[in-house]
Amino acid sequence: MADMDDLKEGKKYYTDTPQKSDGFFLKGSNSLDWGMKNRLSRIFNPKSGRTVMLAIDHGYFQGPTTGLERIDLNILPIVPYADTLMLTRGILRSIVPPSLSQSVVLRVSGGTSILKELSNEDIAVDIEDSIRLNVCAMAVQVFIGGEFEKESIINMTKMVDIGTRYGIPTLAVTAVGKDMARDARYFRLATRICAELGAQYIKSYYIEEGFETVTASCPVPIVMAGGKKIPEFDALKMAYNAIQQGASGVDMGRNIFQAESPVAMIQAVKAVVHDNETPEGAFDLYNTLKHQG
Ligand code: R5P
Repeated sequence: MADMDDLKEGKKYYTDTPQKSDGFFLKGSNSLDWGMKNRLSRIFNPKSGRTVMLAIDHGYFQGPTTGLERIDLNILPIVPYADTLMLTRGILRSIVPPSLSQSVVLRVSGGTSILKELSNEDIAVDIEDSIRLNVCAMAVQVFIGGEFEKESIINMTKMVDIGTRYGIPTLAVTAVGKDMARDARYFRLATRICAELGAQYIKSYYIEEGFETVTASCPVPIVMAGGKKIPEFDALKMAYNAIQQGASGVDMGRNIFQAESPVAMIQAVKAVVHDNETPEGAFDLYNTLKHQG
């Protein structure tokens, strides 16, 4: 107990200086609770307002994807460059050291494989485990227009309800069926539905035409999904365009860990996301870092 004998009366009240009440830096997130804002601030860098999420959760439906065969050897060396790691609890517990300082976004939907209908997912992780693992967000796949559209939307709304109870944001991951049109109209529909139903942020693909209308009509942050591997310069250009057209970051997997030099690629992506580096400048950086080994 404090020594009562030496108790001094406080004098520094600064009565002429009103207490500041800052708005929160993330789009559409000002009315969220403290814990949720704090977790979002560990995903999105408060200085740039953006994030580089490294997505390595592919194994939850497609097994050991190229580049993810040995996460301990191939992925752990690039983790320090990411703002956030997006993965499953199986990989987190079995391979990632708990001394990790990056935030974790946990894949919580699942239950299907590439051998069956992918949209037939359920919630596959109990909220208690997300709390136990100290995650900063929970990722749920949403299949707008898919065979199990309703079920996947309800998976997401359930996680929004449970996550709101404990201050953990829900990331809605828009998944597009092979036969669906990947255009601005579709992504405006998919992202807006997820936002209206409460997702705190949304992952969506980049499209050449009208991506800025997708980010403009979505009231919460959008992070760009990477998609299949394309040449490094093209991937940096895609990330640059997405950021300049309103994305609040990227959630990239294959275009980082399948790059010729993943360590160089993630640093080049970071320059694009946090420093507005041009695709040309970022590609130069990539080549310099790659040759440095
Ligand atoms: C997809 O459902 C997975 O959850 C990945 O997180 C996502 O596809 C991002 O990885 P990539 O950039 O390789 O597409």
